[in-house]
This record gives sequence, C-alpha cells and structure tokens, in this order.
Amino acid sequence: MTALFKHLARRIHHEGPLTVADFMAEALGNPKHGYYVTADRFGLAGDFVTAPEISQMFGELIGLWCADYWDRLGRPATFALVELGPGRGTLMADALRAVSGLLPDFTRAARLHLVETSPVLRRRQSDALANHAPTWHDRFADVPEGMPLLLIANEFFDALPVRQFQLTEQGWAERLVALSPTGEALRFVLGNPGGLTTLMVPPRLRTGAIPPGTVIDLGPAAQSIALDLGQRLAASEGAALIIDYGHSAPVPTDTLQAVRRHQPVPVLETPGEADLTTHVDFGALAEAATSGGAAVCGPVTQGDFLRALGIEARATILRRTASREDTHEIDSALHRLIAPQAMGALFKALALTGPNGPPAAGF
Ligand SMILES: C[S@@+](CC[C@H](N)C(=O)[O-])C[C@H]1O[C@@H](n2cnc3c(N)ncnc32)[C@H](O)[C@@H]1O
Repeated sequence: MTALFKHLARRIHHEGPLTVADFMAEALGNPKHGYYVTADRFGLAGDFVTAPEISQMFGELIGLWCADYWDRLGRPATFALVELGPGRGTLMADALRAVSGLLPDFTRAARLHLVETSPVLRRRQSDALANHAPTWHDRFADVPEGMPLLLIANEFFDALPVRQFQLTEQGWAERLVALSPTGEALRFVLGNPGGLTTLMVPPRLRTGAIPPGTVIDLGPAAQSIALDLGQRLAASEGAALIIDYGHSAPVPTDTLQAVRRHQPVPVLETPGEADLTTHVDFGALAEAATSGGAAVCGPVTQGDFLRALGIEARATILRRTASREDTHEIDSALHRLIAPQAMGALFKALALTGPNGPPAAGF
C-alpha cells in the first residue's frame, strides 16, 4: 500500500469514485506523495529514459530548430523561450549550449520560462540552467504574454490527466476509480451510461461502428493548453514544437499505462510510485490549436523529423573525435532516436506557428 493510496482511499470514501483524470492528477502531482513531486525518476536507476537523456544530439538539434525559427521571424530583440515539463533541464541546456556558440544574439534575446510543478525537478533545472536565469511557472497560462514565443514540449503532454469512457450495451459510461469491496485496493468501475455522459464523447464515436467494451481517452487538459497556445501564436508570432509518443489520428483505444523501473505495471497498483502516461492524440492537439488560430505543421515521425534536421550529419561529426566506446554510444543513441522499431515511428513531432508565420523546419 503506497502513502498516496491512503489519501486516495480517504478521498473516495468522502467523495465517491474519482474520474481517471483526478486519479492521474493525484498520482503524478499530489503535492506530498505525487510521482513527480517526491523524486527524480529519470535514468537507468529510475523508471524511464527520455530522448534528451539518451543523447546530446536531441537537445542540440531542437536548439537549432528554435534558432532557425527565430531567424525566420526576423530575429526579434526579445522573445519568450518556454519549455513545458523540462525534466532535468538537459534538453534546454544542450539546446542553449549548441546555439550560443553560433548565434549569441539568440541567447541574449531569450527570456527563459519553465513550466514545472515538481520541486525536485525545479532544483535539477536550476542546476542545469544556472547561467540562463529561468523563471518557473506552475501552468502555461501563467507565462507572460505580449512577446514572440518559442516553445518546446518533449514528453509533457503524455503526462497530462485524461478522462476515460467505455462503451456499454446501454451507451457510453465514464470509467471511474473506486475502492475494492475490502477497501484494500483500487479498482475501475463505470458511472451511469448514456444521458449527459454521451455528450462528452466526440460525435464521430457516437455511431454504431464501435464495439461495446471499447475504452477511449479524452484529454481536456492537453486540449486546453493547445487552444491557449493557438491563441497566443495568433496574437504574438512564434512557434511551438511538441514531441511525444502517440497517434496522428484519434484511435478509439485505452492507452493509459503505468511504468515502474522500466517495466509495465498494473495502472492502479502503486499510485504515486509508477509513471502514468497515455498516448498523445496529435489530431486533437492540432484541432484545438487551429481553433485558437494557429497553423499546424505535421505531425511527422520523430525519425523523419530528426533526419530532416540533420541528426545523421551531427552523429558523423561527433564520431570524428570519439573513442571506440563513445562511437558505439553515438551509434546506439542514433538508433534509439530514429529507428522505426525504437522511438523513430511511435514518437511524433508537431509544430504550431502563427497563422501567417513562416513554416517550421523539419516538416
Ligand atoms: C516525462 S517527463 C519529460 C521531461 C523532459 N521534457 C524530457 O524530455 O526529459 C515529464 C515532465 O513534465 C513535468 N510535468 C508533469 N505533469 C505536469 C504538469 N501538469 N504541469 C507541469 N509540469 C508537469 C514533470 O515534472 C516532468 O518534468
């Protein structure tokens, strides 16, 4: 039984079953016992490894992508450089290091804003980015408006809470998290089917083509950030780059998963001690951003995106001065980042720009 379980059991006792979104928000972000709040979970000794932790090439290329877009915008004298969920700060540190040698004016113009809720990770980011005077925010909505925006989000949207709905013989019902009859474990139950719940489900899924038993994820938190991003890009120019694992078009399937020590574990078994994610619905993000006024590039696969930005040429340059062991590491990182059977196909890149802004590189 985890420390968070006791809190969840009390909440369910008083309020009744929780939505899956409430459960995810508690499991990942509870201020005392949340997964991201209590520890740094990255690396081989932790639970997962992200692209910037695999190789410096990832952050370097994204830094050059930002610098290229800043150049296309006419090199504004100040702009907000924003990262959502910066983890250990590795991506942004690699990005700024790569660009500052080539285009010092870019780093001088950048006002760095980090959106991060975890105090543990804020400390890591503070160490990694000490020379760049970041300002932290709990939410993207708190990042100041009124200047051009360049924004990066790598593996951020997959951590945002989703609500889940299941099709029953009586119509769509919300999937909820309740206590088992003995009160010693959590279990999924269904709310009342039909009625207002049906209105939560996108119209295209209300047809008879979906088999009963189907579970879908809906991400209101992700869509609300995408809408806000779209509105900001329409009001002040700029671009946002979203990289994550997920699908280009909506897929009616349950993608909620829990991972602990690099292994899948049951979703409800160890709340607060396992990472919880869902596959990102890039189509829904693009739709929300477009309705806010942004233009959309992609999504394309991470493999195609990184190849288009020149990752193979960057690997060749790094190999020139590498030891045999380092060469092996560069090759293996390149494979993990771009091979379709590794991260190359499941991960996608999507760019949002101002409605009349220049197109983004890599698409
Ligand atoms: C999987 S990590 C990705 C970290 C980093 N982008 C990388 O690629 O290494 C998710 C990050 O998002 C942060 N995060 C998760 N949910 C968040 C939320 N609702 N608001 C702000 N940050 C959040 C986590 O603390 C963590 O920094």
